[in-house]
Amino acid sequence: MHVTAIIAAAGSGRRLGSAKPKQMLDIGGGSMLQHSLKAFLAHPRISDVIVVLPQGTAAIALSGVESERLAAVRTVTGGDRRQDSVANAFDKIDLATDVVLIHDAARPFVSAALIDRTIDAAMTHGAAIAAVQSRDTVKRVEGDVIVDTIPREGIYLAQTPQGFRRDVLAAAVAAGRSGVEATDEAMLAERAGYQVHVVDGDPGNVKITTAEDLEAARLRTAGSTPAVSRVGTGYDLHRLVEGRPLVIGGVTIPSDRGPLAHSDGDVACHAATDAILGAASLGDIGRHFPDTDPKWKGADSLALLRDAARMVREQGYEIVNVDVTVILERPKIKDSIEGMRTRMAAAMSIDQACVSLKGKTNEGVDAVGRGEAIASHAVALLAPRASRLERLR
Ligand code: CTP
Ligand code: MG
Repeated sequence: MHVTAIIAAAGSGRRLGSAKPKQMLDIGGGSMLQHSLKAFLAHPRISDVIVVLPQGTAAIALSGVESERLAAVRTVTGGDRRQDSVANAFDKIDLATDVVLIHDAARPFVSAALIDRTIDAAMTHGAAIAAVQSRDTVKRVEGDVIVDTIPREGIYLAQTPQGFRRDVLAAAVAAGRSGVEATDEAMLAERAGYQVHVVDGDPGNVKITTAEDLEAARLRTAGSTPAVSRVGTGYDLHRLVEGRPLVIGGVTIPSDRGPLAHSDGDVACHAATDAILGAASLGDIGRHFPDTDPKWKGADSLALLRDAARMVREQGYEIVNVDVTVILERPKIKDSIEGMRTRMAAAMSIDQACVSLKGKTNEGVDAVGRGEAIASHAVALLAPRASRLERLR
């Protein structure tokens, strides 16, 4: 059986109001059109695909689509109305085609199972579309006054794919050409006298119409696109020995003893690094900067903090604030705190006001209290980076 998919992607996306047609906008992992196209190319029952595009956009629209089956894709130029676009594609259809599925490029989340259901029902009935039953009570309104309440049991919201035997779609397209105006092919087939069946659509198979829809689609696609703020904690401790420099928060403090460590042993930076990595679920400092690697020997821990902050930003987060406690019996660090905050903030490329550092003693209790070690705790808060609406532009 030969199944052809027509992907309608020739609209201008007026209601969304972006600079380029909405189906060309990136939603994470490619444009909406690319998501739709990939779904059909990946489906074993789809023989070929015709993509209907605005004049002159074929090269851009298909660049970046990786599929072994790109040879099965043809493009045609769309028309003024959606039905004109589909008619243009229908004119190019392979005569071996048994069933045609029409799909909106603006529905990037179509599932393989829904494609299957639509093909099966179109074969059985001649015409079948995906639709979901209305969950809400439906009102007919004039001005702002309800004039009728329509029982929701009989109300279905049409989706795509819409599937037709080729002869049925031929009659539907002919009806459209003879003057019937329709917003979907099902309506044209109804007018041509066919019974159009529904298959269970998918509530997730949404059509991206407005800027809010686009925003929601972007949040949904990229698993890596953060949606919420996250916290992380970090902790570090180093033994103090004679003859090592005491570096805390990137500041060297006069002291006869300093941390024994592979790196510079800067506990504040290490705890902060672990806190921001932890908040982004990126593992810990040992994973990214192993102390078995000679590269990190004597390393400036501000550089590790800088690298970790970059990794966190690459995950789509910004660092909101970091709060660090350093536990050290002596010397007192309070005069150096401003310098530590300045250096740590610079390493993370954030404002100094977003970095807090506090000194504590352990009141003579345990190894830290006896001055044998220095320890540090940190907490970090990350938030999704930048206004996501900014990416609309
Ligand atoms: N479409 C098309 N040719 C047209 C109009 C629309 O191929 N002349 C396609 C759109 O690209 C979209 C699908 O039909 O994938 C559904 O249409 P709709 O959501 O209305 O998209 P637009 O017409 O682009 O948006 P708007 O109505 O807001 O302008
Ligand atoms: Mg439209």
